[in-house]
Amino acid sequence: MHSTLIIGCGSIGERHLRCFQKTGRCSVAACDTNPTLLATIKERYGVQVFSSLDAALAEARFDSVVICTPAHLHLPIAIKLLNLRLHVFIEKPLAIDTALVPQVREAIAQAQRYVAVAYVYHLMPWVANAREFLKQGELGKVLHVSSMSGQHFPTFRPAYRDIYYTRHELGGGAIQDALTHLVNAVEWLIGPCTRVYCDAAHQALEGVTVEDTVNVTSRHGQVLVSFAMTQFQTPNENTLLIHCENGSVKIETNHQRWGVMQRGDTDWTWHQTPPQERDDMFIAQANAFLDGVEGRDTPLCTFEEAVQTLKFNQAALRSAATGAAIEIE
Ligand SMILES: NC(=O)c1ccc[n+]([C@@H]2O[C@H](COP(=O)([O-])OP(=O)(O)OC[C@H]3O[C@@H](n4cnc5c(N)ncnc54)[C@H](O)[C@@H]3O)[C@@H](O)[C@H]2O)c1
Repeated sequence: MHSTLIIGCGSIGERHLRCFQKTGRCSVAACDTNPTLLATIKERYGVQVFSSLDAALAEARFDSVVICTPAHLHLPIAIKLLNLRLHVFIEKPLAIDTALVPQVREAIAQAQRYVAVAYVYHLMPWVANAREFLKQGELGKVLHVSSMSGQHFPTFRPAYRDIYYTRHELGGGAIQDALTHLVNAVEWLIGPCTRVYCDAAHQALEGVTVEDTVNVTSRHGQVLVSFAMTQFQTPNENTLLIHCENGSVKIETNHQRWGVMQRGDTDWTWHQTPPQERDDMFIAQANAFLDGVEGRDTPLCTFEEAVQTLKFNQAALRSAATGAAIEIE
């Protein structure tokens, strides 16, 4: 049976562990440098655990890994494991800078193993179905997109003061940690960002100084895009509006639905997805990764798509720091 190692068993690592287990298609083991956490994971899921990645590699054999450490460690770990010819699934954001990207590309070319990045919006049926509809071209060209999203982060991530979120160099702040999901989703829907102007500030979250509020105006080729996000707001909501030549598409993640309004319509025609638990899309994501390992097509974010979103993150941070619009190659 396929064997997967979860590297880092914090908030998202534990979810991946549980959801890979639920596929029934692989055996799962875990490693984390926090011994207390590791003991809890062992007891809760009955899996083999290791106190470090090196210990795991010395004591057992794996076919694939899921890298769930903070972002500054993603690419160094990916290179090491690609060199051992393992399939690699990497949490978002891909990294905190592009320094190691050429080395990872080289390692992927040498290893000939499957690599994908865990931008989970690719597994949301309401996003994927809207994307398929847009690709059919019935509404004509996309001309404008707006994304409005946010939640009360302290409610959903009470530990935010104690984790990577507090520092940009660990992948923290709203741009790299939260907005990146929306940016990657928009890039998946309409194509890569080519220019960014970003205004961001710390407005409300106690105990941190990183930005918790972001406004972006960006270009994706000919398409004008705006993103607004706060991490202090009460509503846990997420809306994407995509305006095309002959009508519009709306995606409401909090309602798990997408809708169309054709020119001449006065209301939305909604496509409602059957209710999903949060784990459901992570199980779908784990299955998609295992499909990819088996050589099948998947909707998962590719390494190069994640590199593009990483370039956006960097450009947005630079724009926020300098007040200038930044071109992305
Ligand atoms: N896709 C999503 O919805 C989602 C949600 C949350 C976090 N994330 C991403 O996942 C990553 C981890 O986030 P988190 O919230 O789980 O963080 P976390 O701090 O809760 O967990 C990280 C874990 O990694 C462990 N760790 C650190 N260095 C290690 C090493 N060298 N070897 C083994 N273990 C190590 C830590 O001990 C910790 O338990 C981040 O990149 C984050 O952006 C994604």
